[in-house]
Amino acid sequence: MSPIKLVATTAFGIESVAAQEIKDLGFEGIVTENSRVIYEGDHLGIVLSNLWLRTPDRIYILMGTFKALTFEELFQGVSRIEWEKFIDAKGRFPVEAKSVKSQLFSLSDIQAISKKAMVKRLGAHYKTEWFEESAGTYRVVVSILKDQVSVLLDTSGEALHKRGYRSRGYQAPLKETLSAALIKISRWRPGIQLVDPLCGTGTILIEAAMMGRNIAPGLNRKFASEKWPLFPGELYPRERKKAFEAIDHEAALHLEGYDQDSRAIKIAMENALEAGVAEDIHFQVRRLEAFSTKRAYGYIITNPPYGERLGEKAQVEALYRQMGEVFNPLATWSKYILTSMETFEENFGHKATKNRKLYNGRIKAYFYQYYGEKPKRGV
Ligand SMILES: C[S@@+](CC[C@H](N)C(=O)[O-])C[C@H]1O[C@@H](n2cnc3c(N)ncnc32)[C@H](O)[C@@H]1O
Repeated sequence: MSPIKLVATTAFGIESVAAQEIKDLGFEGIVTENSRVIYEGDHLGIVLSNLWLRTPDRIYILMGTFKALTFEELFQGVSRIEWEKFIDAKGRFPVEAKSVKSQLFSLSDIQAISKKAMVKRLGAHYKTEWFEESAGTYRVVVSILKDQVSVLLDTSGEALHKRGYRSRGYQAPLKETLSAALIKISRWRPGIQLVDPLCGTGTILIEAAMMGRNIAPGLNRKFASEKWPLFPGELYPRERKKAFEAIDHEAALHLEGYDQDSRAIKIAMENALEAGVAEDIHFQVRRLEAFSTKRAYGYIITNPPYGERLGEKAQVEALYRQMGEVFNPLATWSKYILTSMETFEENFGHKATKNRKLYNGRIKAYFYQYYGEKPKRGV
C-alpha cells in the first residue's frame, strides 16, 4: 500500500506528548506543529493510530497541500486530489472550512468551492453528476493558514476522547485525551502508587488503569474509516482482536481516587466498570484534609477546581493552601497539579520544579510539577 501522510490533531501544549506516542507506535517522518503532528503511515497506520493513540483528538489523512491566493487555485488544488482512492460513489462528504491570515477568508465560499471541486472530480470518476451521499461519512476539512491550504480527511469520526466508557455527563470532567497526556508527562509507571484526591468522575485514574493494563483506548468504539467500503475491511477487526489479546491481566496497579462529592464517586465507579478497570481503582468519598498515607514514593496527579467563576476565587485559594498542607509533608511523593490559576504556587506554598502551559479546552492552564525525592538504593 502506498504511503499516506497522517495528521494527529491535539490540544495546544501536548503536541510533543502525542509525537512521542506516535514514535513509540513505530511511525516515522514525524513533524510537530501547533496543535498537530504530521507523520507517515498507511492504511494499517490509520487503524493503529485510532486504536492505540491516547492523546490526539483525531487522526486525519493529509490529502493534499498547496498554495491558493484565488478561488480558482483553490478549486484546481482540491480537484487534483485523488478522492476516489477513499471516497466511494455513495459516500457523504461534508466539507468544513478554516482560514487564518489568508487572502481567501470567506468560509462559506471556501467550503462551497472545495465541495464543488470534489463533486467534479468524483463525478468524472464515477460517471455521475448526482451523489446520493447516503452511506459512510468522509468529513473533509479545508484549512488555510497564511495562504497555504491543507486538505484533511477525518478517519476517526467522533473525537478520540470519546472512548465509550463515560456513562453520563457530570460537571466538567477532564477530557480523556488530556488526562492521558498528564499521566504521560508525569512519567508515572504502573508499579507506582497513584492518587487523585480530587478525582471527580475519575478520568485520570481510569486512563492510568487503561495504560497499566495496556488496554487500547479505542478498543470499545468504532471509527469513521471502519465503515468506508474502499478501506481494507480486514484491518480493524484483526487489529482489534490483537489489541484485545494484548491486555495485560497480570499488572499490579495501585490507584486511589477520592472526592467529597458522592455523586461524582458513583459515576467514577460506573465509568471504571464500563472501561473494564473497576477492580484496579479504589474510589472513596473523602475530603481532601482527610488524606494521609504512610507509603513513600507515590504520585499525585490531580485537576482541582480552578476558581474561574465569579466569587469562587477565594474558596479555591483556600483549597490550594490546604493542598499545600496535605501534600507538602509527602517529601518522597511526586505531585502534579493542573489549574488555570497563575498564582497557584503562592497558595500551595512551594515553587514547582517544572511548569507546563497547556490548554484545557479553551482555558489556558498550567501543569505544576513537583518532583519527589529519588528512592534510595534498594527501596
Ligand atoms: C475539576 S473537578 C475534577 C474533575 C475530574 N478530573 C474528572 O475528570 O471528572 C474537581 C473536583 O474536586 C472536588 N473537590 C473540591 N474540593 C474538595 C475537597 N475539599 N475535598 C475533596 N474533593 C474536593 C470536587 O467535588 C470536584 O469533583
